[in-house]
Amino acid sequence: MTRIVYVNGEYVREEEAKISIFDRGFLFADGVYEVTSVLGGKLIDFEGHFVRLTRSLSELQMVNPITSEDLLKVHRELVQKNSVVEGLVYLQVTRGVADRDFAFPDDISPTVVMFTQEKSMSESPLAQRGMKVISIDDQRWGRCDIKTVQLLYPCMGKMMAVASGADDAWMVHDGKVTEGTSNNAYIVKNGTIITRELGNEILSGITRSAILRYANVAQMKVEERAFTVEEVISADEAFITSATLFTTPVVEIDGKKIGTGKPGNVSKRLREIYIEESLKTAI
Ligand code: PDD
Repeated sequence: MTRIVYVNGEYVREEEAKISIFDRGFLFADGVYEVTSVLGGKLIDFEGHFVRLTRSLSELQMVNPITSEDLLKVHRELVQKNSVVEGLVYLQVTRGVADRDFAFPDDISPTVVMFTQEKSMSESPLAQRGMKVISIDDQRWGRCDIKTVQLLYPCMGKMMAVASGADDAWMVHDGKVTEGTSNNAYIVKNGTIITRELGNEILSGITRSAILRYANVAQMKVEERAFTVEEVISADEAFITSATLFTTPVVEIDGKKIGTGKPGNVSKRLREIYIEESLKTAI
């Protein structure tokens, strides 16, 4: 079935959507993106994604071209036009179209593109069995806090994982885990949830902040600090969070079992709470 997508103010069939070959998103990966999940036909954490989008743009000297109200309207239109019950809305804003030059002109208008993708998320076989990860060197640039579309290294990392029979890669910088290729990383030790503190090395996950909030409410102990691969191996359990994977357990790293080698109780509980709360607060 053909999708209806959004390109610069218009809703068009996906095969009719066009972007210039001079778009700086295409030539320089000069753009940012957001992925907002749809559960029960409603958007999870829409406002959080909007705030992060505005921040990413501003860090790259771009102004958010769309208000929160208008963006919400487009998200809802797309969900409705494509009858999405469970899945995601992908949004990309690039600096726009200009002759190829590293220096960018400041008078170009941004390109705004959105599309939906159906994805089964609440019933996830991966959450049932738990993910296997490998550790790899984090070779990304120094501003991983900005959600840019330059995702080649994470793609290569994911392929390294798949080639070795794993599901994902956890990246390591200066001996400490930063994050997964497209998710935030956590371990649990003696009942304490440990996840890297925010900084330029990781993305400030919208799901991360929801999970830490829910963990606090449930009176679980949380420590925001970096951890080593050795700590992962000796942890009681491990998990990841992202908009589309919610909380998903990690049961193995570099071929070594974490804890019992089965999804742990803390991550299972957090996943339940996350789905329950998201269904309540989705708009
Ligand atoms: N990825 N870290 C990285 C590097 C990510 O790409 C993502 C999200 C996250 C989690 O952020 P959030 O909880 O806001 O989804 C952390 C999205 C889902 C993607 O690229 O598809």
